[in-house]
Amino acid sequence: MALYLLLLMLTACAAVPQDLSGKMFTFPQATNSAHVRLTTSRQVLGAVTVCLRSFTDLRRAHTLFSLATPSATNDILIIKDAANDFDVWIRNIHVNVIGQDYKLETWHSVCTTWDSISGLVQVWLDGKPSSRKLVSSGSHISGPILIVLGQDQDSFGGGFDINQSFIGMLSDVHLWDHVLSPGEIQNFVDQRYFTPGNVLNWSALEFQIAGRVLIEDK
Ligand SMILES: *[C@@H]1O[C@H](CO)[C@@H](O)[C@H](O)[C@H]1NC(C)=O
Ligand SMILES: *[C@@H]1O[C@H](CO)[C@@H](O)[C@H](O)[C@H]1NC(C)=O
Repeated sequence: MALYLLLLMLTACAAVPQDLSGKMFTFPQATNSAHVRLTTSRQVLGAVTVCLRSFTDLRRAHTLFSLATPSATNDILIIKDAANDFDVWIRNIHVNVIGQDYKLETWHSVCTTWDSISGLVQVWLDGKPSSRKLVSSGSHISGPILIVLGQDQDSFGGGFDINQSFIGMLSDVHLWDHVLSPGEIQNFVDQRYFTPGNVLNWSALEFQIAGRVLIEDK
């Protein structure tokens, strides 16, 4: 246990890329502080795909992914809400997407795509696409980027709300600077070979842990 805590502290300090293949982050309790901060040197994104896998027993709203810049705290925010839908914000603009097959205590693959030219967002739950809906077109995500897992940033890097915190496990978090094709998304869902994210790569992830978040075998 002591060694584990030491390892935890070491990983908390170092922002050296780590290969998390086969691992997951476990968020064991509701807090307004515990989170994982992911770092990227990218400052501009004109299109994105975020994919991750989640496992939870939460019926209340909970945050799956929060990307903030100083000018937009909800530059990308993906929340699973209490009504079984996804609330997605891109460039601070909100859209509601149905997520009726999101079951408790089950691993789900959630991929979200957006591009600034069409302005359309789409959520793929376990490879099933949602309707494509308009959020924000014409402007890019730009500025220093802070990405947080486990909490919703209501300010840049902070402003966490315990009632939107995540409890459960998250794994295989990738972020690309373009919209993946349906075939590539299906490869992610099926855990076949896919090209890792070129902005966030789970096999070479730079991160810092704050508070009680564990790295465990999946
Ligand atoms: C969180 O939710 C509980 C129960 O609904 C409520 O009593 C509490 O005030 C909320 N806390 C915050 C910080 O909003
Ligand atoms: C992701 O990380 C792995 C392991 O370091 C590396 O082999 C691969 O090239 C990376 N992929 C991208 C797209 O950065």
